[in-house]
Amino acid sequence: MKFRLNQFLLAVSSTLDFVEMDIAGRRTNHGKRVAYMSLRIAMELNYDNEDLYDIVSLAILHDNGISEAYNDILNDNINTEEHKMEHCITGENNITNYPFLKTRKNIIRYHHEKYDGSGFFKLKGEEIPLISQIICFSDYMENQFLIDQMWGENKVKIKKFVEEQSGKLFNPQICKIFLELIENTGFKLDLGEDFIGSVLDEKIPKFTFDLGLEEVRSITGVFSKIIDVKSKFTMRHSSGIAEKAEVMANYYRYAYEEKTKLVIAANLHDIGKLAIPNTILDKPGKLTDEEFDIIKTHTYYTRAALSKIDGFEEITEWAANHHEKLNGNGYPYGKKADELDFNSRLMGCIDIYQGLTEKRPYREPLEHNKVIEIMRDMAKGNFIDKDRVEDVDKVFKNCEKNK
Ligand SMILES: [Fe+2]
Ligand SMILES: [Fe+2]
Ligand SMILES: [Fe+2]
Ligand SMILES: [Fe+2]
Repeated sequence: MKFRLNQFLLAVSSTLDFVEMDIAGRRTNHGKRVAYMSLRIAMELNYDNEDLYDIVSLAILHDNGISEAYNDILNDNINTEEHKMEHCITGENNITNYPFLKTRKNIIRYHHEKYDGSGFFKLKGEEIPLISQIICFSDYMENQFLIDQMWGENKVKIKKFVEEQSGKLFNPQICKIFLELIENTGFKLDLGEDFIGSVLDEKIPKFTFDLGLEEVRSITGVFSKIIDVKSKFTMRHSSGIAEKAEVMANYYRYAYEEKTKLVIAANLHDIGKLAIPNTILDKPGKLTDEEFDIIKTHTYYTRAALSKIDGFEEITEWAANHHEKLNGNGYPYGKKADELDFNSRLMGCIDIYQGLTEKRPYREPLEHNKVIEIMRDMAKGNFIDKDRVEDVDKVFKNCEKNK
């Protein structure tokens, strides 16, 4: 399979940007702007193409650990430095198996370190990996200023700040490069809302990986972690579904390719949940109609992200159809039975099975028999495929660990 990893990364960056908007109140395209600013600064520092490629990936992923940390903040109703620091550690752990072109240790961990030692881990100056410093600078500036509008007074304000912070919060060399870039009309326009996505796509060094399905599977496993840590109620959701998808694929004696694609679809099926606010995902008690309408958007975002990836055609269907129902009462499109293939139906059943065996803010986990009883009722109403329900029952009946 020819797999364009950056195409994949850009697709998921849109969903990661939603997380930042929800949690940190960032504007749209935050991660993409941080990635583009980091790329341009790194180009001036003469990094080679492999480095540049990795820098863009790291910048897009810089806040991948933010969800879990935010949950803690919500639950304890506190917002301490220690809690904020958590996202650096979680983010670093999440990407341990990510296929960077070179070894990248501790870049995410130290993405909030300040040059003067005032960051979370108190590293100073050259102790901080330079790539972390670049990402820190870009992230900080994107957060604090309207970085896509560096004209007139705003430009003066930004320049003044960078001049003042050179050698304090930030590395003087990075500040110097940025002060030159700020005079570049193209650079400033590239950061605009309408252009940033396509500009970034165009400017990332092109690496087409000839990856085997197994490697694609392991990359998507990294993302399933990022999706799962979004809410503490779904800590094992995507990974649990991926395991069950594999067991079912073995039961049906699928060939390797179909089995692996099914597992990839399972890893990514809820990637659109990154776009749903945690206040809704973690709400104890019943959702309002309006909140449920928002929940229903997540499979649309899953499709929007995955359909951009070459070679993911079937995977997109199996992932994005998991809340469609045979009788047309599902979402987001209200597809009917004839539009839902075997694996889409199977994924829908596994998702329900896994979901019901997990704890939710409003109920405890359910036992296998109870889950199957509910699913049989749903099959009677022609919501889900009754044969798949019976298969799921047969396969998981004797498993002790249904979660
Ligand atoms: Fe961060
Ligand atoms: Fe950020
Ligand atoms: Fe879902
Ligand atoms: Fe799900």
